[in-house]
Amino acid sequence: MTTLWSGRFAAAPDAAAFEWGSSFGFDRRLFEDDVTGSVAWAKALAHAGVLSRSEADAIDAALHDILERGRSDPGFVQGADEDVHSFVERLLVERLGDAGKRLHTGRSRNEQVSLDLRLYLRRRIPVLQAAVAAIVGALTGQARQAGDALMPSYTHFRPAQPVLVAHFLLAHAAPLRRDYARLAGAREEANALPLGSGAIAGTSYAVDVATLAADLGFDRVVANSIDASSDRDFAATFLYACAMTMVHLSRLAEDLIILCGDEHRFFEFSDALSTGSSMMPQKKNPDPLELVRGKTGRAFGNLLALLTTMKGLPSGYNKDLQEDKHGVFDAEDTLAGCTAVVKSVVDGLTLNRERAAAAASGLLLATDVADYLVGRGVPFRSAHEIVGALVRKLVAEQREFSSLSMDEWRAASDRFEADVVQRVTPEASVAAKRTPQSTSPSAVRAALGEVEAWLALLPLENPLC
Ligand code: ARG
Repeated sequence: MTTLWSGRFAAAPDAAAFEWGSSFGFDRRLFEDDVTGSVAWAKALAHAGVLSRSEADAIDAALHDILERGRSDPGFVQGADEDVHSFVERLLVERLGDAGKRLHTGRSRNEQVSLDLRLYLRRRIPVLQAAVAAIVGALTGQARQAGDALMPSYTHFRPAQPVLVAHFLLAHAAPLRRDYARLAGAREEANALPLGSGAIAGTSYAVDVATLAADLGFDRVVANSIDASSDRDFAATFLYACAMTMVHLSRLAEDLIILCGDEHRFFEFSDALSTGSSMMPQKKNPDPLELVRGKTGRAFGNLLALLTTMKGLPSGYNKDLQEDKHGVFDAEDTLAGCTAVVKSVVDGLTLNRERAAAAASGLLLATDVADYLVGRGVPFRSAHEIVGALVRKLVAEQREFSSLSMDEWRAASDRFEADVVQRVTPEASVAAKRTPQSTSPSAVRAALGEVEAWLALLPLENPLC
């Protein structure tokens, strides 16, 4: 095995240590990006007068051939090479001889690996964004179908107030839209050209980095070559965006596991996305969502691992940074898998309207009773006391507001009139809400329309994918 640095050493590398330290087994995933970067670098070297036009053309043709072969046959991208950069360079030299050997002029793998990872994230993040948006689409579709269906909301996991089922579903769409934006931010952070930084001090060749950046679709060039060689902030930002998205998928999973459970049954999972028990014939288990919840720990681990790897590094490139790719690829795969299964689960949900609505009634209308008294001039704090006492009586007698006679209402407060009976229902409760973020049916309809309009404006396909 020849390396890119063999001239310095009298002996061949220790085979086991070399293999252990090589990254080709996993950074082969950057193959396309490595070739893309080299094509642009060859062009920049030609402009700088380092390569002749014919050398640059030969390199360009050979790199495109290598890319084509790698794309059509994934088995092609393998070998005993130290990393993907060495692999591409070896193939190039095998094809072109000296012209191939000139490509690495003024360039270091330190910046190359940063470039590749930036290019990779730039083309892969939109795929994850589309997957996140697809869940928003699934939630929106369910919200549309739910119409004005009611369910209880919970605080402290105790019944709180009636809400529209659509409001609950959109409550899970909102954080996913933030995740979409957070992923866009991570992509934007990665979108800077590190080439021209050399190994650490910059490059001595007249490379026009602004043109090179434009060629590769970057909107800027990094500010400092020392910083650039060890900057993995963009990778950490990506891992944070993935971890946060997983938080939201995990919470959605948890809500659905509970609300589809036998104790609630507000929704039902499709059979296709449920699992059975090898022993208990009655079981209908939510394994896919449990796995989503479980994999969230992995996503957090990837972020923490990279932060820890980064924190003690002296300035400049250090091999520790090679570890960045494990976490980035695993986070991507984890999120891609989880988003796909969550979308399918949400698409397959069936709402049990009667059961959900029944649970939205009862003592969780207490706030509406207090609001009724406020409307009759009672200070809220006093109204809360009056209704609290009424609730205490109803709990002791295992009754609900709807069972109260007018005399009983009046005994609690002489401000109660006959209209209290219509005012204290789940439907009246949601209809009474006034703010745009509330569960009032008109606000929820507007919110749903806004999310649908957002979805309609999303790019169907990103040109960089
Ligand atoms: N495989 C290395 C990585 O992933 C590439 C950069 C190697 N640079 C070096 N000076 N050894 O970080």
